[in-house]
Amino acid sequence: MYRPPLGSGIIPHEAKKHHIEKSEIILEKVLKYSKLKMEDIDVISYSAGPGLPPCLNVIVEFAIKLAEKYKKPLVPIHHGIGHIEIGKLTTSCEDPVIVYLSGGHNTIIALIDNIYRIFGETEDITCGNLLDVVAREMRLPMPGGVEIEKLAKNGKYIELPYVVKGMDLSFAGIQTAAISLFNKGVAKEDIAYSLQETTFAMLTEVVERALAHTGKDEVLLVGGVAANRRLQEMMEKMCDDRKAEFYVVMPEYSGDNGTMIAWAGLLAYKSKWKSDLKDRINSKWRIDQVNVTW
Ligand code: FE2
Repeated sequence: MYRPPLGSGIIPHEAKKHHIEKSEIILEKVLKYSKLKMEDIDVISYSAGPGLPPCLNVIVEFAIKLAEKYKKPLVPIHHGIGHIEIGKLTTSCEDPVIVYLSGGHNTIIALIDNIYRIFGETEDITCGNLLDVVAREMRLPMPGGVEIEKLAKNGKYIELPYVVKGMDLSFAGIQTAAISLFNKGVAKEDIAYSLQETTFAMLTEVVERALAHTGKDEVLLVGGVAANRRLQEMMEKMCDDRKAEFYVVMPEYSGDNGTMIAWAGLLAYKSKWKSDLKDRINSKWRIDQVNVTW
């Protein structure tokens, strides 16, 4: 996994270089681990977006090269749909309200009439990004969310802006407030605790409203932030109160992984799904632009 240097965010050309260097090595490892040969593979799926164009381009070129060499069909997959489908596969949920939280995504989604429709999202930065940025300001190692979670265990509450606008959320003001608290000498533990309590309560409130609105009785948490135990605890409590079932993607599949793209590709391929992407990638591909045929 690519990790940016301490104190910095993802550097696109560094991430691209990492993708180029690792793709062959990972393919070899995967085939060895699964005891398969390329000839045994049915479909090659790749993440076509959203994401950083330099990285998406490396992968699409690698996928095309393999598809041509081994004469395999190629299936472009929406990165977020990969997260959702691996969440459904690794839990027993059927038709959940999906809470998709990572560094780049902050979306409340439900499948209605074959579209993963967005019920709520962030108006500015994502919750995952907020945790990373504040962690970086406090010189914590990356991924910042994990460090914030550890520190939060020994913190106490300090009020931060709580910004819920209908079904949408805003985290930018919280970021400014948290960094200013840190600069005033407030303990990292207290900032970590307050960040978690405030942002996770905001998310839980919106998810509860999505449940009421859609009439669904399951919640599925996916994406890198899904691994946070405090977030899970708050969502679970809300679900218990509403008699809804709560599910979390298996921890090893919560962050970005190839398996989720492979699995979504297989679902799409078997259902005879056809991509209507104009180009091979779409770095701004929205999840509600995909017709879910599986
Ligand atoms: Fe992701």
